[in-house]
Amino acid sequence: MGMVAMPNAASYIAAKGGVRLLTKAAAIELAPSKIRVNSVHPGFTETDMVKSALKDLGKGAGVGENVIKDMITARHPIGRMGVPMDIANAVCFLASDDSSFMTGSEVVVDGGYVAQ
Ligand SMILES: NC(=O)c1ccc[n+]([C@@H]2O[C@H](COP(=O)([O-])OP(=O)(O)OC[C@H]3O[C@@H](n4cnc5c(N)ncnc54)[C@H](O)[C@@H]3O)[C@@H](O)[C@H]2O)c1
Repeated sequence: MGMVAMPNAASYIAAKGGVRLLTKAAAIELAPSKIRVNSVHPGFTETDMVKSALKDLGKGAGVGENVIKDMITARHPIGRMGVPMDIANAVCFLASDDSSFMTGSEVVVDGGYVAQ
């Protein structure tokens, strides 16, 4: 939600958008100290927060949470929602020397959700 908007979530979206440029500001300030700063942008990931949101959305729409989950899953070109390990793997990469030339980058880990 730092990359694209959705209805009824303006403050959430503004906060996530802020992370993108805060990251870049920190990256250029801290590069001389050899500190890299990158941001990770997960798509829908099956965490407690999302499980609870699926329940609430289902209740609001008068359908089961699985109906909502299927609708959201259908928007992911990879054909599934993320799991926490998908995000952890990206963070491990950014924390490793394999990404030593990356700073100020936005790493989207979302099964292609915002690519379409
Ligand atoms: N799950 C998603 O689909 C998704 C997608 C994009 C971004 N995000 C963002 O990722 C972050 C984590 O989301 P999540 O889905 O894992 O949420 P979650 O509610 O499942 O987990 C949040 C965790 O943070 C801990 N926490 C809360 N306040 C804390 C504090 N002050 N100090 C230390 N720990 C604290 C909670 O105990 C909990 O374990 C949030 O900023 C969320 O907006 C989540």
